[in-house]
Amino acid sequence: MNLASETRIPRHVAVIMDGNGRWAADRGLPRTEGHKAGAEAVRKVVTRARERGIEVLTLYAFSSQNWKRPKDEVRELMSLLIEFCHKERNLLMDKGIRFRIIGERGRVPRAARMAAEVLERVTRGNDAMQLIIALSYGGREEIVEAARAIATEVASGRMSADAITDATFSEHLWTHDVPDPDLVIRTSGELRVSNFLLWQIAYSELYIDERYWPAFDEDAFDDALAAYAGRERRFGGVRP
Ligand code: FPP
Repeated sequence: MNLASETRIPRHVAVIMDGNGRWAADRGLPRTEGHKAGAEAVRKVVTRARERGIEVLTLYAFSSQNWKRPKDEVRELMSLLIEFCHKERNLLMDKGIRFRIIGERGRVPRAARMAAEVLERVTRGNDAMQLIIALSYGGREEIVEAARAIATEVASGRMSADAITDATFSEHLWTHDVPDPDLVIRTSGELRVSNFLLWQIAYSELYIDERYWPAFDEDAFDDALAAYAGRERRFGGVRP
């Protein structure tokens, strides 16, 4: 595919990385091996997204509901995040990528939170792309937190209820300073949004890839971009 001739590059791509467990099961491996292979896929996709000029890449690494998984699996996912923060620091610095996490920070174990926050600080000045990792993230949780903050402002008299608009909500979300995703990719063929960026994906294009996440590579990412370039976005309007 010749992407050089493509002009319709999404500004923000958000990815639901699904299928690590099934990828491992197909190979007779423990689920944790699937997550390790998934972390390799993260590196490939981050690199390709930067090459393609994506401004924001958001990856759903751990949902608010994932705390229900077995303790060992949660521990493995947190160690992979810590390892990623150490191992990929040079890549992010070389490529000018800013790293951020969104989600319920307070629920993330200290070591993982510290590793992520150090990387956030170190990469703060990078402006070629933003890599946002959704960690202990839930779309409903985010909306509830925004509602609570807005209600507090109204109760204190700093804002009138009549002044609340959809922009007010957007401004109170963890993603308040990035554009809404243009494209949402989900791997492993599942047709669900799974509590991911519920408010922000109102008009996003959805792309489902049949591959399990560890098998999702640079070419797969390009395929998603090509599909996006062929879509016609109307945001509720009519055909031009
Ligand atoms: C879904 O597969 C994947 C996850 C819950 C975690 C995603 C994590 C990674 C890709 C690795 C670490 C991330 C970073 C940023 C270093 P699943 O376990 O639900 O698979 P299944 O549906 O086949 O069981």
